[in-house]
Amino acid sequence: MARAPAPLLLLALLAALAAAAGANAAGRKMVGVYELRKGDFSVKVTNWGATLTSVVLPDCKGNLADVVLGYDTIADYVNGSYYFGALVGRVANRVANARFVLDGKVYHLVPNDGKNALHGGKRGFSKVIWTVKDYVGGGDSPYITLYYHSFDGEEGFPGDLDVYVTYRLSGRYELSLHMNATALDKATPVNLANHAYWNLAGQGRGDILGHTVQLFASRYTPVDGALIPTGAVVPVAGTPYDLRAPTPVGAHVRAIYGGKAGIYGYDTNYAVDGGAGAAALRKVAVVRDGGGSGRAMELWANQPGVQFYTGNFLKDVKGKGGKVYGQYGALCLETQGFPDAVNHPNFPSQIVRPGQVYRHDMVFKFSF
Ligand SMILES: *[C@@H]1O[C@H](CO)[C@@H](O)[C@H](O)[C@H]1NC(C)=O
Ligand SMILES: *[C@@H]1O[C@H](CO)[C@@H](O)[C@H](O)[C@H]1NC(C)=O
Repeated sequence: MARAPAPLLLLALLAALAAAAGANAAGRKMVGVYELRKGDFSVKVTNWGATLTSVVLPDCKGNLADVVLGYDTIADYVNGSYYFGALVGRVANRVANARFVLDGKVYHLVPNDGKNALHGGKRGFSKVIWTVKDYVGGGDSPYITLYYHSFDGEEGFPGDLDVYVTYRLSGRYELSLHMNATALDKATPVNLANHAYWNLAGQGRGDILGHTVQLFASRYTPVDGALIPTGAVVPVAGTPYDLRAPTPVGAHVRAIYGGKAGIYGYDTNYAVDGGAGAAALRKVAVVRDGGGSGRAMELWANQPGVQFYTGNFLKDVKGKGGKVYGQYGALCLETQGFPDAVNHPNFPSQIVRPGQVYRHDMVFKFSF
């Protein structure tokens, strides 16, 4: 891999320092975009919604491309409704009827998906400004740590909650996320997820139906017509959900009802093999671009589930650099607890009690 000449590195470092100093001087509630860079591997994050806005890496011929969908301006992220790259919470995915019972008390959330609550409600963690706690843009292990204090009653959730997320370039072409959340005074459900949309050919370069996906998951949680889990956890064997061997996304995508008439594709929570609740990192997925780029991505995480979504609802979205995103223009692999766990006692619990800490780790390993 060619290294950037020293003056360029110095410039990058100065730019990074300037950005950091600017952010501090201008007040911690300023929204900015922060780059983490290691050679020709670059990741950008904004403290609006703790959102991953760009991941640039080479292909097998050395051509760089940005492999996540997104927008050019923060204003577009503020207005956007696709959760591109966002950190979603307090509870990712759907909570049926925007309602749950905890310790005998009924809680009503803000419904924003019909009568259900989706991704934390109308103004979830992806629609707020996070505080930049720490930022190192270059060097061996560039990282940014963002912090959000979620208040008691926010979107209907109980109790104050301190939330941190750190994005770090943890290896040559490796991006890791560490999320944690501490319940300060009341028990509350917590289920955070990163909602990056991946297209390993490059954002805006066609659909991902030719990508091959392998999921290390032998079971999934079937849903009803409103995409709410029925409560069952069933084997994938013999169904179009079986992705245990590397499979082109397009092979079965049209065999799967996508939650709305005429919409097909995966929007499915898989139970990751290796034991629910185990804290160790487990291999979740391997994705490979079926085109000429040679790019591949491995995902490891410590969560019981992974929501596999194939961009079924994307339609004429104006994205970065004039690109337009259509159906199947990207795929999401949102590691998390099981959807609607708070209403299914047989699902791994997502309840965090005062003094307890929720921890969620993800590692993306890229190759080309
Ligand atoms: C906000 O998003 C909607 C689509 O969700 C779009 O129709 C509208 O033009 C956007 N507004 C601005 C100011 O970008
Ligand atoms: C949560 O993460 C932040 C940032 O990495 C760290 O400073 C803090 O100690 C962590 N909290 C807990 C309770 O582990």
